[in-house]
Amino acid sequence: CPAYERYAALPKAHLHVHLEAAMRPGTMREWCAEDGVEVPPLVDFPHFTGFLDAYGVLISLLHTPERLGRLLDEVVADAAAQGVVALEFASIPDKSAAFDSAEEALEFILPAASAAGRRHGVWTGAIVSIDRGAGPGHALEAAGLAARFAERGVVAVGLVADERGNPVADAAEAFAIAREAGLGVVPHAGELAGPEEVRSALDLGVDRIQHGVRAAEDPRVVAELAASGVCLDVCPSSNVILGVYPTLAEHPLPTLLDAGVRCSIGADDPLLFGVDVVDEYVLAHEQMGIPDAGLAGCARASIDSSFAPADLKRGAL
Ligand code: ADE
Ligand code: ZN
Repeated sequence: CPAYERYAALPKAHLHVHLEAAMRPGTMREWCAEDGVEVPPLVDFPHFTGFLDAYGVLISLLHTPERLGRLLDEVVADAAAQGVVALEFASIPDKSAAFDSAEEALEFILPAASAAGRRHGVWTGAIVSIDRGAGPGHALEAAGLAARFAERGVVAVGLVADERGNPVADAAEAFAIAREAGLGVVPHAGELAGPEEVRSALDLGVDRIQHGVRAAEDPRVVAELAASGVCLDVCPSSNVILGVYPTLAEHPLPTLLDAGVRCSIGADDPLLFGVDVVDEYVLAHEQMGIPDAGLAGCARASIDSSFAPADLKRGAL
């Protein structure tokens, strides 16, 4: 497909992708067969909980360091083939089934990711995700963990799972720990909850917002976002599959870009949603009418808003 080739050739950063859900479909089927586990549902998630359950199956397949190492190599190799020069992958290391502790999981994941990055020519950074459903103790622990690995490949803390009933402001203390350690803060907000959560994230002084698209429901929040320069890491197919918007044609990415909001484009959970980051560029062009110049702007914003080193950014921009 010529459009795929065109957007694959665009140097870009992939800033919104969850490691476990970036597993190759063939690898997942192989491991499910080996473990005697039923293949989880893909693409069709009538409820967010069904999506989280499918995600849980993927995590459960990663019960040996060998599998985690292969996953990292394949994810980084695929990123390289997609024109990704900087990859920030999110992971919840304390859910790792391959290690007894989140510490040990990170001790393995970070050097393995860097080695894969060197093999395939991609800069990598890890985002330690805080699970919103796991309570305040977990949030502080995850932030403390991320802080201890700040010089060793962790670039930021994230905040994932269902926003409803778990507002971003609840993570303020965890974010302060991360910031104190020099880490970035990149929560999911404005996906399943509305524009007030985007405003709340801005008030907390975040670096980027994963999704953030529902800011579009309040023009004042859109204006604040544009003025702040905070980048939204937007994943259109994810939003349609998880029911945030009925169709791609109704997705607010074009509106946000027209309003001057910086946006990167990501795939979120490529395996579960059946799209890679380049597919998302193609869909943004073909289904949402965003011209090539607009998408080149998203690619530039992605690199510029990443936590990649300045020399890499200069070389790529
Ligand atoms: N974890 C993985 N994908 C997610 C999403 N789209 N929203 C919240 N948490 C997630
Ligand atoms: Zn996400």
